[in-house]
Amino acid sequence: MSNNATSPRNRKAAMSPAQEAERLEALLCHLERLLPADTADRQRFREAIVATPPVCVRVNGLLPSHAQAVRSLLESVGRPVAWCEDTFTLGDRAPDAPLGNTLEVALGAVYVQAKATTLAARVLDPQPGECVLDLAAAPGGKATHIASLMNNQGLLVCNEPKQKRMASLVGNLERCGVHHCLLTGVDGAQLARSFHNAFDRILLDAPCSGDGIIGKSRGQLAYWSPEDAVRKSYQQVGLLRAAFHMLRPGGILVYSTCSLSTEENEDVLLGLLRRTGENAQILGIDGIPGIESSTGPLREDIATCYPESFRRCIRIWPHEHQTEGCFVARVGKQAATQGHTVEADLKLVAEDYATDADQMGDYVQQKWGIALDIPRGQQLVRGHRDLTLRPAVSEVIAASLPAFVRAGMRIGGLHKDHLFLSQQSVGLWGDSVSDRRIELTWTQVQQLFAHNHVDLPADCQSPDRQIRGEVICGYGPWQICRGVISREGDHLTGFIPRGLRHERIGRLIP
Ligand SMILES: C[S@@+](CC[C@H](N)C(=O)[O-])C[C@H]1O[C@@H](n2cnc3c(N)ncnc32)[C@H](O)[C@@H]1O
Repeated sequence: MSNNATSPRNRKAAMSPAQEAERLEALLCHLERLLPADTADRQRFREAIVATPPVCVRVNGLLPSHAQAVRSLLESVGRPVAWCEDTFTLGDRAPDAPLGNTLEVALGAVYVQAKATTLAARVLDPQPGECVLDLAAAPGGKATHIASLMNNQGLLVCNEPKQKRMASLVGNLERCGVHHCLLTGVDGAQLARSFHNAFDRILLDAPCSGDGIIGKSRGQLAYWSPEDAVRKSYQQVGLLRAAFHMLRPGGILVYSTCSLSTEENEDVLLGLLRRTGENAQILGIDGIPGIESSTGPLREDIATCYPESFRRCIRIWPHEHQTEGCFVARVGKQAATQGHTVEADLKLVAEDYATDADQMGDYVQQKWGIALDIPRGQQLVRGHRDLTLRPAVSEVIAASLPAFVRAGMRIGGLHKDHLFLSQQSVGLWGDSVSDRRIELTWTQVQQLFAHNHVDLPADCQSPDRQIRGEVICGYGPWQICRGVISREGDHLTGFIPRGLRHERIGRLIP
């Protein structure tokens, strides 16, 4: 008999409500024993971890006009998250469509993200111009947050070995207008064969059992068991050691999980220290508003099993912060670790890189009035079918990494020397277009999202009616998409990418 029926993948389908309840009870017992006994905390924890956390969105700072528009709305109806000023808990006014079908999400103005998950990038504190690695990046909540903090400057390497999840990572980086990125698709431990003592900062948001997010995804229960958490911790130790190797001396490594168990957190840090000795240090995490005591009330006899420095890590308990559970550690590195080869000088900067791609930059300026401001270390690259803006170092890395997937952002598609602006370019720079812009009504925006076509009324006397051909479709502060107005001026075709279109687009804050 095949043992497929009992494999973890099939457990979910096989679980009855009674089995689910039994498994949940086992998980709660496993986690609550970390809290001091005889306090009300355990009961509060039990209630909080199964509750659905409030909806939270993070403003994406990379698309300035969209960010400004959504921030002012959120400031009036939402509540800012103490440790991440860009993130807001939505108030009582519910979106008038599922979150993913709202204009604000579709146009990359916000990323829907639990408030606990915004802590990792905040602790990483990446700076513009640095070289940063997100070792386990899909679907990209933290990667887009890091990109936003770096203001698209420097180099952000995002790695994700699972092909299906890579697609969601690519989609989210595109939606948020990230262009200083380079994507690799390989086991994180394998990546350490190519990069040695290289990155200023690294985030390892490790694959984990997710025991802290059960409230959001009960499906996780089907895969959870104490033995599975231990198995996960072996993989986590391997990834953490690899991440540590890729960190430059003096750099910062953040290890985070959405698990609360010590197996997947403190035990993993121990696994690193066993290998590195004093070369790795668990650093303090200071000055994060809203986080008073770092580890929270971890039972004292458990906390004393670990080095004193582990008390510096943050464990977010759902009952203390009304969010999902998570763990964050900040690790420093003193000296270089041994590596055999250095394929890529990450600091390589493209200077005086004049190519025919630069002429396309002039073209964009002439046609749309958009001055492409190419950040230091990035370059325009003209391919057969498109023009991309990407880190200059991509060429070197692409040649040396078998797992290289892609780099940068598509500025637009090329056809017979004509450049068709991509959706990302419209979001990033569309607000500087004044001549070739058409103002839409909300009904027209909805029609575009549904069908990518709008009939323009014949009796419309607005100046917009004088425009023919390519335009940017705008709606107040929102850059909706590139469009083409018919020769007769009575029809607008939009180019909203398929993945962003919705039959009924709504608003995050109606
Ligand atoms: C917790 S998720 C990351 C979430 C992501 N950081 C975010 O904020 O959206 C962990 C990711 O690690 C990936 N992963 C699994 N095994 C891996 C490995 N060996 N090396 C690197 N990543 C791995 C998983 O596919 C998953 O996408």
